[in-house]
Amino acid sequence: MTNRNLTTAAGAPVGDNQNVQTAGPRGPVTLQDFWLIEKLAHFDREVIPERRVHAKGSGAFGTLRITHDISRFSKAKVFDTIGKETKIFMRFSTVAGERGAADAERDVRGFSIKFYTEEGNWDIVGNNTPVFFIRDPLKFPDFIHTQKRDPRTNMRDANTIWDFWSRSPESLHQITILMSDRGIPKNYRQMHGFGSHTFSMINADDERVYVKFHFKSMQGIENYTNAEAKKVIGEDRESAQRDLFDSIEKGNFPRWRFCIQVMPEREALARAENPFDITKTWSQKTYPLLDVGVIELNRNPDNYFAEVEQSAFTPANVVPGIGFSPDRLLQGRLFSYGDTQRYRLGINHHQIPVNAPLNPRHTPFHRDGAMRADGNLGGTINYEPNRFGLFQEDAAAREPSQSMEGAIAHYSHRQDDDYFSHPRALFELFDEGERQRLFDNIADAMAGVERDIVERELALFEGIHADYAAGVRRALGKPAPVSETALP
Ligand code: HEM
Repeated sequence: MTNRNLTTAAGAPVGDNQNVQTAGPRGPVTLQDFWLIEKLAHFDREVIPERRVHAKGSGAFGTLRITHDISRFSKAKVFDTIGKETKIFMRFSTVAGERGAADAERDVRGFSIKFYTEEGNWDIVGNNTPVFFIRDPLKFPDFIHTQKRDPRTNMRDANTIWDFWSRSPESLHQITILMSDRGIPKNYRQMHGFGSHTFSMINADDERVYVKFHFKSMQGIENYTNAEAKKVIGEDRESAQRDLFDSIEKGNFPRWRFCIQVMPEREALARAENPFDITKTWSQKTYPLLDVGVIELNRNPDNYFAEVEQSAFTPANVVPGIGFSPDRLLQGRLFSYGDTQRYRLGINHHQIPVNAPLNPRHTPFHRDGAMRADGNLGGTINYEPNRFGLFQEDAAAREPSQSMEGAIAHYSHRQDDDYFSHPRALFELFDEGERQRLFDNIADAMAGVERDIVERELALFEGIHADYAAGVRRALGKPAPVSETALP
């Protein structure tokens, strides 16, 4: 049997792990007690920066199994055979809370999937909602600042949240989802997932279609009310982590149907409504869901830090046959994730096993850098072109051209001012009970908010539906302002 005795990081045996070395039995500690120093120094550095958003999360490994042929849309090898299985890693999260936040908060849930395909890693970094609060990446830091703590009080502030939302009417669709019954999923298994943005698929003939990704929970949907969630949080801050971990340990493997909506490229360019606007959905009547496969989670990580905390997803990780769209929010994200991961985990984070692709990497120009943990590609040359003809690009991986036109400018995303039709369609689907809970949840979330902010938001709800504004006003117990009540 191998010797399992304790050693230092350098491999030397440790003589005493109970008592520090001191000058005399009651004297001070010596500086030469290097084991104490190594142990404390390592402990002092154990915490790495948490994710700026989605800091609290849970993860698991599993598989994607292809059930339908979509090779007419995408040449990606992950889709090339019915029955094909690809390993995946998924991470779920809440958005606003810090790493120790409670799971059962009213918040959007992150829904990230890393597909370890034979052509490299493909990541979908989505949410449990098909839309988002904003549509221009310049506003993301502002938006997140309103969701996080106030710089002076260090508390979350409902005034800040509603001040921003009431001045950002594009948020109405997502607010309506967040404040609805679906705002507090009971766990990560019983919620749907969405890629949310529009992406491209490219087939073997270099034809492009635009797609949306949907993941339909095969466990059904379950949610908490505010009152239920309060009770759960009082008893268990890790309710979703516990549910996911325990379910997988018991062999109760969660599954989702992986579906796509497809829009031909010509149609996308000709449509009156911008198909690249993440605050809007695509009609499922016009663009029905097409099945692609089933994802299943069936293995818990062995080590949370190594595999979940150090996992790094980015929408920029695509493989040939899958591409982006002009969605300006997506374009901002393509930069932000790799950038934050170079800071959070370091330039060599691709070497961390959970992030490393299964196929061999040939990136001979990425050398050196902090925490280079492999052989640093030994004596392999580190430039191209070279006299050996090494490291040639693969023209087959090139995307077909994408037609765009127009002069460079800061075009206002408010040129499209239809903030209301999509949340209205959703509101009209709600029955009486769902509407009442929506009103009550909004009133709860608005507790203590200044009158002018409330009135600005109510005016936006009025734009969605008179019953929406009236219902929230009733739930708030607030009479309409004098000027409004005076109207006939
Ligand atoms: C995490 C930025 C919009 C879903 C993150 C992180 C950053 C970020 C910096 C931390 C990543 C890390 O440390 O590994 C942004 C920016 C956005 C944006 C700049 C808009 C311009 C969105 C949208 C979605 C989304 C629209 C969903 C549709 C997620 C998820 C995570 C995340 C799921 C957690 C990933 C994980 O599990 O590790 N985002 N985000 N984000 N974001 Fe975004």
